[in-house]
Amino acid sequence: MTTPPRWGIASTGKIAASMVTALHALPDAEITAVGSRSQASADEFASTHGIARAWGSYDELFADPDVDIVYVASPHSHHREMTIAALDAGQHVLCEKAFAVNAAEAREMVDAARRNDRFLMEAMWTWFIPAVVELRDRIAAGSIGRLLTIEAAFGIRVDVPDGRHRRPDLAGGALLDVGIYPLTFACFLTGEHPTDVRAYGQLTPDGVDETFAGVASFPSGPLATFQASIGALSGHGARIVGTDGRVEVDAPFWHTAGFTIHRDGAEPERVALPNSGLAHEAAHAMARVRAGHRESDVIDLATTLRTMELLDDVRAQLGVVYPSES
Ligand SMILES: NC(=O)c1ccc[n+]([C@@H]2O[C@H](COP(=O)([O-])OP(=O)(O)OC[C@H]3O[C@@H](n4cnc5c(N)ncnc54)[C@H](OP(=O)(O)O)[C@@H]3O)[C@@H](O)[C@H]2O)c1
Repeated sequence: MTTPPRWGIASTGKIAASMVTALHALPDAEITAVGSRSQASADEFASTHGIARAWGSYDELFADPDVDIVYVASPHSHHREMTIAALDAGQHVLCEKAFAVNAAEAREMVDAARRNDRFLMEAMWTWFIPAVVELRDRIAAGSIGRLLTIEAAFGIRVDVPDGRHRRPDLAGGALLDVGIYPLTFACFLTGEHPTDVRAYGQLTPDGVDETFAGVASFPSGPLATFQASIGALSGHGARIVGTDGRVEVDAPFWHTAGFTIHRDGAEPERVALPNSGLAHEAAHAMARVRAGHRESDVIDLATTLRTMELLDDVRAQLGVVYPSES
């Protein structure tokens, strides 16, 4: 018998399957149910992953009295509706990134969490990966001197016809899917939000951002350069440069297992840490719920709202407007 919260999985897509694998590896996690738009998909997912209960609608999952926390893993376009429905039903929520389509939606979700006195957190797993946390701490401790630049890229090639990445109605595009990582990586490492951001991009014929690049400047001085694409595979490492050296972060930077610190006149220092992927954020969410908290103290809701405002700013510069916004 595990201690609550017991998990419900909202969707049967790719990351939902990865999260279930991660939860199964945690000794104190229990998954009670999965919900899907279709009974067949819920049944198949439940049988593949050894989950006892399969609901053929999200509403039934949200009404399940044996589910304490829901993992929302639908396309961005559906995060608001599903998160608010679960919160209004009295469940806690861990919602995938990008948390919402825009900051206005994110505010509604935060309001729903407060109104229902429930836990809500953005599932930005990077912020819980041990090597990323260690990297931030080393930089803050001055290991490469004064921080000057952070470079990161996340490009993938996604050509799936009618897949969510390229569909405006599902809030597709590079920014919400992959571009959020290089942007928020710099926020995490600096502990700040940019004072200014400039971005340029190319859109698909359907009007979502296929590729973009830009620069953000942070209050304490550092500049972050970022690139993202759903049209081409890029390198996935990151480089952080300071006045006394630089750090080369192993690919993929957003869930890296290690990095190398190069200091002038010294042997490179290698840092590597165990990495359990999505399990770190899931364990954190469970611990916060068990302790009676209503948000994370690593990625709190104010941070998530500022992230959404940053994404809105970049997306406006790229000229992407989703159908739900027009
Ligand atoms: N943390 C990470 O590493 C990571 C990685 C990839 C993606 N993500 C995020 O996770 C979310 C899902 O991504 P994914 O790659 O898992 O997507 P996916 O494979 O396309 O799965 C999305 C699932 O959402 C459900 N869904 C509900 N309404 C839908 C609709 N109108 N159209 C299509 N699907 C709908 C579907 O499940 P049912 O058919 O069962 O309803 C579908 O299987 C996104 O927010 C994405 O940015 C995070």
